[in-house]
Amino acid sequence: MKKTILLTGGLGYIGSHTCVVLEQAGFRTVLLDNLSNSSLSSLDGIERILGYRPVFYDADIRDRGAMASLLKSNDFAGVIHFAGLKAVGESVESPFEYYNNNIQGSFVFFEEMERTGLRNIVFSSSATVYAADNTLPLTEASKLGTTNSYGTSKLTLEFVLRDLVSAKAWNAIALRYFNPIGAHASGYIGERPKGVPNNLLPYILDVAIGKRERVGVYGDDYDTVDGTGVRDYIDVNDLAEAHLAAIQKLLASPTTPLPVFSPSPPAPLLSEEMGAKSSFQAINIGTGQGTSVLEMIENVRLASGKSIPYAILARRPGDLGSVYADPSLARELLGWEVKRSVREAVGSSWKFVHDNR
Ligand code: NAD
Ligand code: UD1
Repeated sequence: MKKTILLTGGLGYIGSHTCVVLEQAGFRTVLLDNLSNSSLSSLDGIERILGYRPVFYDADIRDRGAMASLLKSNDFAGVIHFAGLKAVGESVESPFEYYNNNIQGSFVFFEEMERTGLRNIVFSSSATVYAADNTLPLTEASKLGTTNSYGTSKLTLEFVLRDLVSAKAWNAIALRYFNPIGAHASGYIGERPKGVPNNLLPYILDVAIGKRERVGVYGDDYDTVDGTGVRDYIDVNDLAEAHLAAIQKLLASPTTPLPVFSPSPPAPLLSEEMGAKSSFQAINIGTGQGTSVLEMIENVRLASGKSIPYAILARRPGDLGSVYADPSLARELLGWEVKRSVREAVGSSWKFVHDNR
């Protein structure tokens, strides 16, 4: 019989791609989303790709009654917990909203998971949990530290899950995503930012389709290949496959959580300064390669055939010159590696935006 996986935030950008990958790998998925940053068009897109419509619950993870009945009335083998707010700038202005939705919401959800004995979870974490003063590439042992409420919500939830692993025998993997881009090759699902995009590629794509005039490049005086900011852009289809590998790893030995993740040097979740170590497993999901802002603009120009006007602006406060992952732990523990290039990812993003103008 097919194992069923619950995807919170399952209609979002990463959740929808993960749904497709899991279904195609033989899992049954159930999607839960409050549609605060997504819409039923994602479900339509998933249906067009799969040829059937996965079960969807329009519900909020903070709704204890709804979570209790959803968890009781299904036999879930595991959860992938995507649901959350993710805009860094907004989180700085609205910490209560971020702590309420991301932390309080997850507390409610985790308590109801525990109550029904569901203890296998893959959590959407982020490279934003790393402190600014690390050497590159970032490994899971790099120093942790956050500068905004969004990042603090992610790091807090990693700590909470680590405690649930040790106190309640949960089996948890936190995937620390670098910069997800790209779309499904069909063009039926992809990223649909509401309003003015915060992230680089959606902004460049808006310029390519003529929705915005020019890209503002935040600084050209960093110590990088061309002076502009360098990031580790990961194809969302590769990222979705990392979730498949993580859930398979969890389900392979759900009753013995700690030994599963201890063969390699344990990745400390707490910084040395905080004086503690844990075997809770956080795993970087990136390519290990950096791409600059100007290289991304060039990639979009090549994919779209459109010229992309840009202007050099001041640095964005809080930005780092370069950020990229050491993804070797993902290879070692999950057997996962990237298959798609940044250029392919930009191509699929362009197709999605172009087809869905
Ligand atoms: P997204 O906004 O597209 O998806 C998140 C989904 O969660 C949305 O569909 C939203 O409606 C839903 N949601 C939010 N709060 C909810 C709640 N209280 N109850 C139920 N549903 C709720 O974002 P995404 O890019 O797919 O990101 C998924 C996860 O990965 C998020 O937790 C995000 O913080 C994390 N992440 C994203 C990135 C990125 O750049 N996209 C990078 C690192 C980590
Ligand atoms: C942002 C978030 C980070 C989150 C990540 C992935 C901030 C401060 N950080 O980081 O927490 O994990 O997205 O969702 O927002 N750039 C421009 N012009 C633009 C937009 C971006 O030049 O209009 C540059 C940036 O300076 C950076 C690069 O493009 O060098 C990528 O920016 P962005 O997509 O916002 O990602 P991050 O900075 O990695």
